[in-house]
Amino acid sequence: MDIATAQWLVSEGGREALRQADAWADPTSVSAAQGMRRQWNAEQSAAALSQTRLRRRAALKFGAGAGSLFYTSDGLEQATRPAVAAWRATRFVQAGVSTIWDLGCGIGADALAFAAAGLRVIGVERDPVTAIFAQANLGQGVEVLTGEVAELVGAGPTGRPGPQPGEGIFCDPARRTDRGRSWRVQDFSPSWEFVTRLLTGNASVCVKVGPGIPRALIPDAAHATWVSESGDLVEASLWAGFPALGAGAAEALLLPGGHMLLGEPGSDPVPAEIGRFLYEPDPAVIRAGALARLADDLDAGAIAPGIAYLSGDRLEDTPFAEAFEVLEVLPTAEKTVRAWVRNHDIGVLEIKKRGIDVDPAELRRRLRPAGTHKATLVLTPTSAGAVALVVRRISRA
Ligand SMILES: C[S@@+](CC[C@H](N)C(=O)[O-])C[C@H]1O[C@@H](n2cnc3c(N)ncnc32)[C@H](O)[C@@H]1O
Repeated sequence: MDIATAQWLVSEGGREALRQADAWADPTSVSAAQGMRRQWNAEQSAAALSQTRLRRRAALKFGAGAGSLFYTSDGLEQATRPAVAAWRATRFVQAGVSTIWDLGCGIGADALAFAAAGLRVIGVERDPVTAIFAQANLGQGVEVLTGEVAELVGAGPTGRPGPQPGEGIFCDPARRTDRGRSWRVQDFSPSWEFVTRLLTGNASVCVKVGPGIPRALIPDAAHATWVSESGDLVEASLWAGFPALGAGAAEALLLPGGHMLLGEPGSDPVPAEIGRFLYEPDPAVIRAGALARLADDLDAGAIAPGIAYLSGDRLEDTPFAEAFEVLEVLPTAEKTVRAWVRNHDIGVLEIKKRGIDVDPAELRRRLRPAGTHKATLVLTPTSAGAVALVVRRISRA
């Protein structure tokens, strides 16, 4: 989209076009395009219809409130979930930060949460269309600067002053290449070098990275928080310049509850036989190296080295893992499992697995569940070899 069309889209004229585009059940249809073209030119019609499509996708992903913002396709894909953005904003507020620079603010999902938490926000965005949408989303109370972050922070001539002492910095680097989403820090923009410079400087800084970041890359000065929302591992945030957050430490944070567990890098859970209960830890706990601590809390152990299933004989209520009662222990031989499925009249079969090279969807097809009951199978190595556990999910109180 060109800059003029983006400016028009966020103007009153564009908003009227958006109201009309929203009346089409299918904004991608030829009739929608033809209908819109009666009143607006080709670029404007296409922009309003594609914005409508993105808003509907956003409402599905982020809830109804997000359906009235302006998006680019990349901006929507990269936008932080509202609950995660709100948690991050609270952490800055609690540290006494009152002004925050959002370096590479995208369409402004994090910036919106910063502003809602009462922070003064300055966003920087190099893509002019994204910056126009960010400004429209954030309103006139937030300053959005269009340009390269390096011109504002760090080396290079500064047209205007960047973050001042005492001001906070947030950076959520783009992690996309021409081939799609990338997890390699070499593909970050702003660059990984820029980001590590921020993390080793003096300001209160948070950098959002993908949850798969190798531990060895995280600067010693940073505190790492692996965040999951409703069981989805969504990001790792690296924090520096927050005295309450120990440098070098790692923790898991589970939203929406806000439960936190500190990792103990290098310590593994004790080994255990399969007990009455099986625990499937939240992925943030695994990534934060907090399995041994969780196992201690649950009076449980690991059922095989390097396998993140814990087992024990006591049922403990925990937000950090899903609990299952172990009903039967079967060998993994497909013939045996298929017979079990048939004999128990299973029609809906959930298959979980770790450490076993099998495609659950393919296996389910081969096991041919056609009955009337539901079951959950867990395929995993144990100290006594691979097993298929028949388990029952225990709902939390
Ligand atoms: C991952 S997105 C930010 C998403 C944002 N946190 C949100 O939740 O909506 C990163 C943004 O940084 C911008 N960007 C990348 N490199 C930049 C640079 N060197 N200077 C300024 N902006 C940059 C990209 O255009 C992109 O919009």
